[in-house]
Amino acid sequence: MSTPFNVIPLSRNLGSVVTGLDLAADLPDSVIRALIDLLHARGVIVVKDQQLTDAQYDRFGRHWGRPLEFFIASHRDRQFPALIKIDNDPATPEPMRDGAVHWHCDSTYEEEPAAVTMLYGREAPRVGGITHFASTAAAYDALPEATKARLDGLVAVHELGKAPWIEGETQPDPRRPQRGMPPQRHPLIARHPVTGRRSIFTSGTAYAIDGMDPAEANQLIRSLREHVVKPEFRIDYKIMPGDVAVWDNYTTVHCASPMEYSAEEGKRRLLYRISTKGRPALCVAA
Ligand SMILES: [Fe+2]
Repeated sequence: MSTPFNVIPLSRNLGSVVTGLDLAADLPDSVIRALIDLLHARGVIVVKDQQLTDAQYDRFGRHWGRPLEFFIASHRDRQFPALIKIDNDPATPEPMRDGAVHWHCDSTYEEEPAAVTMLYGREAPRVGGITHFASTAAAYDALPEATKARLDGLVAVHELGKAPWIEGETQPDPRRPQRGMPPQRHPLIARHPVTGRRSIFTSGTAYAIDGMDPAEANQLIRSLREHVVKPEFRIDYKIMPGDVAVWDNYTTVHCASPMEYSAEEGKRRLLYRISTKGRPALCVAA
């Protein structure tokens, strides 16, 4: 693919690093479209060496879809509510810590989950702060045809805090944030809204399957989650200051490594998240 920027793959199945691009500029549609195509081909892209104002980052985020309004209001930026602050402030109450330390894609407890999420790195700790990604599309492709046929048409039930998938938990922790919404239903095998590519869509909030015995559904979801994170489908990446890491929630899952909550020099982590719903405007128009 010929692109107006430099691209370095992070692995065979997943992830590309982009250099030679300034997202602070009002980029032409052709460049944005090339980035969108790259994301759809690679699942995760990291645009290096950025220095963005909140307004510039907000504008870049809107190229990917309609901004998602995060349900915890205190995490939203006052002036740019699409920006969601993620940090390791030691004042963070215990149940609010490490909320992303399990494999998931974003906001699947919503009626319309996040299609794309991005993180802009401002501070990174010297040790830790790794984000793990896995390709749910490559994992789907690798399934036996008989399994694909068995999964086709199944609908998973999602609710925040219902699934016991966090490492070491046998039951969800009731002190964790609750969405206060009814369960949402999403196809177990997703179809990408732009490319049509299929993927395993179990996320971290799927806890049941319509019409299936609960124990059988639990076993099926658990086995698919284990399949998705096999080493051949995975990459690990540490988001550094100046990185804008963008992922496609339809074809990937991600997982944060547990953080030390500290305000000390060299231990702080600060990121700004934007998630979007729907298709990019340039794809809708195409
Ligand atoms: Fe997440």
